[in-house]
Amino acid sequence: MKLLEERIKKDGVIKEGNVVKVDSFLNHQMDVQLFLEMAKEFKSKFASHNINKILTIESSGIGIAAIVALEFGVPVVFAKKSKSINIDGDMYTAEVESFTHKCKNQVIVSKKFLGPEDRVLIIDDFLANGCALQGLISIVNESGASVEGIGIAIEKGFQSGGRAIRNLGFHLESLAIIDSMDAATQSIEFRAQE
Ligand code: G4P
Ligand code: NA
Ligand code: NA
Repeated sequence: MKLLEERIKKDGVIKEGNVVKVDSFLNHQMDVQLFLEMAKEFKSKFASHNINKILTIESSGIGIAAIVALEFGVPVVFAKKSKSINIDGDMYTAEVESFTHKCKNQVIVSKKFLGPEDRVLIIDDFLANGCALQGLISIVNESGASVEGIGIAIEKGFQSGGRAIRNLGFHLESLAIIDSMDAATQSIEFRAQE
């Protein structure tokens, strides 16, 4: 999506360690007008899937997912990260390992809000190693719902998550895929997409 790529080029700040900061418009301050354009793009990409629920994970997926849900006219649920181990039977759970933060989190969704009747579009801001996404997929599977699609704002194409998820056969669409970036020159290359 050209609009998002241009915005990343203009306002993204590339840090050492292959990290791009987009906190001025995506995951701290949020440009919801941009989110609306992103949501319209997801709507057209997943139009044929009859989506009836959006699922994301706290925290920075929530803002984007809320606008996507508005565009689809369906509810949005966010998975919560929880440190506690004694989770009762009312919750679907998955374990998610964060490479950046070097910790394991339980990710939980109430059984009240996801079930076999749901046709789910998973939304998140970043796809890197895909650990968060694998956790969400596992929760959808546990609930008996179906993963109809996965929509990501920014995929780091040089990390393994995107390839792994596509190889599993999921319909994954990333609005911007970064093939390479360089902190010293602040240069960034995006993968060409139709
Ligand atoms: P993974 O889920 O794909 O495996 O990602 P990883 O563990 O590598 O990343 C951990 C966190 O860092 C995630 O947020 C992810 O969205 C974020 N992240 C990964 N790469 C980048 C990057 O280049 N720039 C920015 N700004 N964020 C990145 P999280 O820990 O789930 O937390 P939250 O911010 O959503 O609360
Ligand atoms: Na995220
Ligand atoms: Na994040």
